[in-house]
Amino acid sequence: MKTFYEEVGGEAFFADLISQFYAHVAMDPILRPMYPEKDMKGAAERLQTFLEQYWGGPTTYSDNRGHPRLRMRHAGFHIDSTARDAWIKCMKSAVDGVEMSEIHRVQLWSYLEMAADSMVNQL
Ligand code: HEM
Repeated sequence: MKTFYEEVGGEAFFADLISQFYAHVAMDPILRPMYPEKDMKGAAERLQTFLEQYWGGPTTYSDNRGHPRLRMRHAGFHIDSTARDAWIKCMKSAVDGVEMSEIHRVQLWSYLEMAADSMVNQL
């Protein structure tokens, strides 16, 4: 059986998604200052390899970074509902901008929305 990663087109799909996402982040007044100005390429690579791994692709993320522990890794960032909504808006534009079947899009989107909610760490 094919994994979600394979079904949507593997690395090329995730590279497209993440490059669209960071193009939106770069223009977002709330998110832009939160991300490392000098290492946007690194940030993009971390998110891309994490999502690839999550959806059944190669384990490059954990090979490089260890256990994801995403809530812990976000603890240093002030993520309130405004930041979450900004992140969701950028990600929604990216998810809407990539080519994929509607079944996969719904599956991907419900995961991302749920994960974004779980990253909120401030009132
Ligand atoms: C809710 C709003 C969110 C905000 C404001 C946010 C913000 C950030 C920031 C500022 C970074 C540091 C960039 C870097 O240098 O890597 C980061 C890292 C990361 N984020 Fe988020 N994030 C959010 C939600 C999410 C969600 C929903 C996911 C997963 C589905 C995610 C996955 C990651 C990953 C994998 C990293 C790299 C972790 C590492 O290995 O250090 N983030 N995030």
